[in-house]
Amino acid sequence: MGVRQRLGLKFKDEIAFLKGWKRDRTAVGAITPTSVATAKKMASVIDPFSSLPVLELGPATGVITKQILARGVGPKELLSIEYSPEFCRHLQQEFPEVDVRCGDAFALDLVLGAQRGAKFDCVISAVPLLHLPPSKRLSLILDLLERIPTGRPVVQITYGLLSPVVALPAGYEVRHLAFMMRNIPPAQLWTYRKTR
Ligand SMILES: C[S@@+](CC[C@H](N)C(=O)[O-])C[C@H]1O[C@@H](n2cnc3c(N)ncnc32)[C@H](O)[C@@H]1O
Repeated sequence: MGVRQRLGLKFKDEIAFLKGWKRDRTAVGAITPTSVATAKKMASVIDPFSSLPVLELGPATGVITKQILARGVGPKELLSIEYSPEFCRHLQQEFPEVDVRCGDAFALDLVLGAQRGAKFDCVISAVPLLHLPPSKRLSLILDLLERIPTGRPVVQITYGLLSPVVALPAGYEVRHLAFMMRNIPPAQLWTYRKTR
């Protein structure tokens, strides 16, 4: 694909993103898509040889989705949950083989349906959390950690200084993964794991 064509595609994604942001600022949470460098860093936690699928939350226009696939995850091994129907339609066109579900990450059993008992290798999350009460953030992280093996990570992007979930019960840990300057706005990446 030529440079002009690639720039055109990127521009189309940015416009789609900005339109979504204008409609619902709280749910979209950022003004531009995550940078490629940040998306790559998030995808770097995936174990492409685990033989488990990957769960992605809040893909929007699919910047992180692309890097998950580039990490070696087959499109049929990726399940992406997006709240906005418009972004869902866009994703279903861009990634026809990825299992894109339109729904709420906070109602995972409902969205996963028959796959509600499935185990995933890890979770890559760009769902905004900072506008939510701490108890709701914590219950999402704990719910996600029940769906992946002990020791495997949920990675979360955020634009605050601190982790969106600070206090985890015994048997869980939070770690700083990276500070991404090459992102608008600069972003922090955090991982959460069950340790036993
Ligand atoms: C900050 S954007 C991230 C977009 C994209 N992953 C990126 O990095 O450029 C957050 C996305 O999460 C979606 N979202 C917000 N709340 C959600 C929820 N409860 N369940 C699923 N998706 C949600 C929004 O619609 C939006 O597309």
